[in-house]
Amino acid sequence: MNILVTGGTGYIGSHTCIALIDAGYSVVVADNLSNSKRETIENIKYITGQDIPFYEIDVTDKQAVECIFRKHKLNGVIHFAGLKAVGESIKKPSTYYENNIISTLVLAKACLKFGINQFVFSSSATVYGENEVPFVETMDLLPTTNPYGETKSICERILKDIAQANPSFSVSLLRYFNPVGAHESGLIGEIPNGPPNNLMPYITQVAIGKQGKLKIFGNDYPTIDGTGIRDYVHVMDLAEGHVAALTSKREGVQIYNLGTGQGTSVLQLVRAFEESTGIKISYEMVDCRPGDIAACYADVQKARRELGWVAKRDLKTMCRDAWRFERNYDQVLK
Ligand SMILES: NC(=O)c1ccc[n+]([C@@H]2O[C@H](COP(=O)([O-])OP(=O)(O)OC[C@H]3O[C@@H](n4cnc5c(N)ncnc54)[C@H](O)[C@@H]3O)[C@@H](O)[C@H]2O)c1
Repeated sequence: MNILVTGGTGYIGSHTCIALIDAGYSVVVADNLSNSKRETIENIKYITGQDIPFYEIDVTDKQAVECIFRKHKLNGVIHFAGLKAVGESIKKPSTYYENNIISTLVLAKACLKFGINQFVFSSSATVYGENEVPFVETMDLLPTTNPYGETKSICERILKDIAQANPSFSVSLLRYFNPVGAHESGLIGEIPNGPPNNLMPYITQVAIGKQGKLKIFGNDYPTIDGTGIRDYVHVMDLAEGHVAALTSKREGVQIYNLGTGQGTSVLQLVRAFEESTGIKISYEMVDCRPGDIAACYADVQKARRELGWVAKRDLKTMCRDAWRFERNYDQVLK
């Protein structure tokens, strides 16, 4: 089985390439390297011992995409390629709508044209908006607070409509919670472009001395210690969730939350990092960010029931693996 992985040199895509190859799939990677590095493909090859066809293309480019579909006999597509920075999406909405929506349309149409019936889409817990936690797949989606979130809701809708009109086209909409950690080799992981927007890379950069104090946004949320609660999931568990979605071969549109089902506060994550690495993280409390919600965690029963998928790696493993990659990246990989 041959899978086209768009955004395959990015954070989640690169780990999913490894999980797919481990499960016996072959992969073809397409990425424009706008938020990733070419070396990642070499590291995936090194880890898996497999040759991987790589295309440096923009997946909004219909001709370039169709060229890959013509050249390779594909059995499915996992579409990770997308812009993902919430703050940037507020400043550049048209760039976000264009990139994230056109790429999804181009790929879905290419699948229909070339008879590829399996499509897996990277959605996000953001689509739930300010619903009550835990978020369940059957909830009505609420408006999100930024263009990035809207692109995910719109792409979900587009893919549902296309699947409804084309019954042989199966779509898995995977709603990720907060991916953290790195492959245990320490060779691939999250490489933020500029100062990190996400908590774990911020913590590891404070630990290594690239950032001063960790800024904790908001300490008066109605949570256990006043800081925001999120559902952190190891990126390799998340990657294995994609394999489970592909191998389940369910027809029609399937929606799954991929998280642990456990809420962890910012301070709890800081403490888990300190305990698993022995490094103290200095922090300061600052105002909450507009649009941030108090708590976000998943109901994970559907993925467990239908895909047999559960996140296995604990918080300490997430911290340890993120830290190993940070140290390695600074000393060896950069
Ligand atoms: N990381 C998270 O916290 C998170 C949470 C929920 C959903 N997601 C979604 O998961 C997907 C992957 O996220 P990630 O964290 O791996 O991000 P990432 O930025 O590390 O990876 C995305 C990859 O897509 C590439 N890309 C972007 N636009 C492209 C285009 N038009 N053509 C070709 N390549 C393009 C980038 O170069 C990058 O390598 C994204 O769609 C993101 O929105 C991520």
